[in-house]
Amino acid sequence: MEEKHCNKKFRMGIIGVGHIAKAYVENILKLDNVEIVAASDLSAEKAAAFFEKYGLCNVRIYDDYRELIDKENLDAVAVCTFNATHAECAVYALDRGVNVILEKPMCVTMEEAADILRAEKKSGKIMFVGFQPRFDNNIKEIKNIVESGKLGKVYYIRIGGGRRRRIPNRSLIEKKTSGFGALGDIGCYALDMVMNAIGYPKPLTVSGYKSSYFGANPKYNDPESAKRFDVDDFAAGFIRLEGDIIIDFITSWAMHIDTPGDTVILGTEGALRIPSVECWNGTMSGNMILYNDVDGEQTETSLPILPEIPEGLFYCKLKAFVDACREGKGKSPIPSSEIVYNQAIIDGLVRSSELGKEVEIVIPEI
Ligand SMILES: NC(=O)c1ccc[n+]([C@@H]2O[C@H](COP(=O)([O-])OP(=O)(O)OC[C@H]3O[C@@H](n4cnc5c(N)ncnc54)[C@H](O)[C@@H]3O)[C@@H](O)[C@H]2O)c1
Repeated sequence: MEEKHCNKKFRMGIIGVGHIAKAYVENILKLDNVEIVAASDLSAEKAAAFFEKYGLCNVRIYDDYRELIDKENLDAVAVCTFNATHAECAVYALDRGVNVILEKPMCVTMEEAADILRAEKKSGKIMFVGFQPRFDNNIKEIKNIVESGKLGKVYYIRIGGGRRRRIPNRSLIEKKTSGFGALGDIGCYALDMVMNAIGYPKPLTVSGYKSSYFGANPKYNDPESAKRFDVDDFAAGFIRLEGDIIIDFITSWAMHIDTPGDTVILGTEGALRIPSVECWNGTMSGNMILYNDVDGEQTETSLPILPEIPEGLFYCKLKAFVDACREGKGKSPIPSSEIVYNQAIIDGLVRSSELGKEVEIVIPEI
């Protein structure tokens, strides 16, 4: 281990060292007084090789996350596992007084979401679902515009974006590990962007649709991945929120169009067009346009893209998490009370799509 990474005070563990764990390690190493003391993965060999690449040979490796949490006296864990194991890892850590930064989406089922919320409440620790686009200045600007009142009362949101063809052929394409496909993977970002902007009103009902015409088809996916693929690669829905607001939702890993369009927010005093990017990574493909009437004239104002944060969004999310843990007030920078609505919408979209009719959105009372 390099000298500058020794003697760190805030003790972190990582559960699950696959694709996204790289972003965690690279950014944790940039934080002052934070050290990665141990990690866990289903494959201890894979985990050891992973840390060796970073020259972090002192990171202790466990093949059981429970042992990691029981033995290491951690301040926090980053849960970077499959969606299907998010809840069990987060709950185990919170129950033992360890702060948790959890990858998105929060989990798979609403029972798991309720377990996480219960454990968080009981522990008083930080439970932070890491939606890094929240730290992008452009995403913040959407919320600023809504909160400034320039749009008046928001009544309709159309979510745009979605990929023409980009299926992540890792653990994300199997229901047993991921629970959902595009719907949970990138749909949660799209929902967070607009729900956060309007203050996360309570979702009420949803009519959903999902399909998988590409991922399981060897014409559009490599044959081995096509055999494994059993999740959605496209989803759509119509979501009713408290306050007479609706969201027209669409998301996709694969389809025959580049994009279904921009994200649009309509209000009684103005509207905002947000040029969508395909993968919801906290950027925009062009200037946002603000539409409103000024002195009786219909005007359009182009809002230049704000510069990227030099340290990157992952750094910002990890710093926000560690700062909140150190503060010790149990106040998460991204409250679970918001993210559970995101999760409940996804759950409603799945249930509605399977039933073929509109369903009520269920929010666990904790
Ligand atoms: N924030 C982002 O930008 C972003 C990007 C990609 C993925 N993700 C999220 O990160 C999570 C992981 O995705 P990934 O692409 O890294 O997947 P991956 O398959 O590459 O890695 C997951 C790792 O978790 C390990 N794992 C699973 N269950 C475990 C358990 N019980 N104990 C210990 N280790 C366990 C697996 O062995 C694997 O190494 C997913 O929830 C995904 O949605 C977030």
